[in-house]
Amino acid sequence: MPDLPGTEGLDAPVRNDAAIELVPELNLILVGPPGAGKGTQAEKLTEDFGLPYYATGNILRDAVAEGTPLGKKAKEYMDNGDLVPDDVIIGVILEALESDEAANGFLLDGFPRTVPQADALEGALENVGRKISGVLLVDVPDDEVVKRLSGRRVSKSGRVYHVDFDPPKQEGRCDIDGSDLIQRDDDKPETIRKRLAVYHDQTEPLVQYYEDRDLLRRFDGTRSPTDVHDHIRATVATLRLEDEL
Ligand code: AP5
Repeated sequence: MPDLPGTEGLDAPVRNDAAIELVPELNLILVGPPGAGKGTQAEKLTEDFGLPYYATGNILRDAVAEGTPLGKKAKEYMDNGDLVPDDVIIGVILEALESDEAANGFLLDGFPRTVPQADALEGALENVGRKISGVLLVDVPDDEVVKRLSGRRVSKSGRVYHVDFDPPKQEGRCDIDGSDLIQRDDDKPETIRKRLAVYHDQTEPLVQYYEDRDLLRRFDGTRSPTDVHDHIRATVATLRLEDEL
């Protein structure tokens, strides 16, 4: 393209594509009882919205498997179905959210799980001028949780299956990497009941916490994984649009 009169010899103006295509960051939290399908939905949502995904359960299980100091601190709590102490997990997540990868949004699963964790997250985001876009509550009743977790099987990479509701093509083997599927240590019946009690006692207060901030969106987790996903995806797309206006 020829230079405009009077601009000969000047550098061509730089087109700022980033500014033109700027979309508001999506800072999302998945919350819900154990076995509600948070991990199942997260796998789809990270693809839909290209968000980095931080699941505290996965981070802690990896740390236990690798025998890191974090894993050593967390193991006993996790095996008993208790929460690891707030001061053990808060720093891990806040550090992850400071990374470049999370600069344009994130999907949190399993954090926050207590009011002090929620306060810490809110404060840390406020300090850098960021805020939570939405809190997605996937809800299922306790008896459904027990059915789901007793039949859950996971691959080495964390892909989740269910022996009845979402079986792999070949029994006991991951469809993606062919690894053996295993049952999580905390999916034993007595630990499942403990985790449910801990959820109702320590995590459920977050429902009101985020209602009060007008951030909570509820989803019926008893529907099929595809239905739940369609509903969440539409809601998140709307959240993004509302933020753009
Ligand atoms: P974590 O790993 O976070 O466990 P959780 O919250 O108990 O959740 P789950 O992973 O069990 O379930 P999910 O909702 O992801 O369900 P999924 O998609 O797998 O935490 C483990 C432990 O780590 C805690 O107990 C604690 O000790 C510690 N911890 C973690 N975060 C912490 C924190 N912030 N603070 C302190 N401690 C922390 O689905 C379950 C099953 O159902 C699968 O088999 C799936 O195939 C099936 N399924 C899914 N959706 C459907 C559907 N719609 N219909 C039928 N079946 C379905």
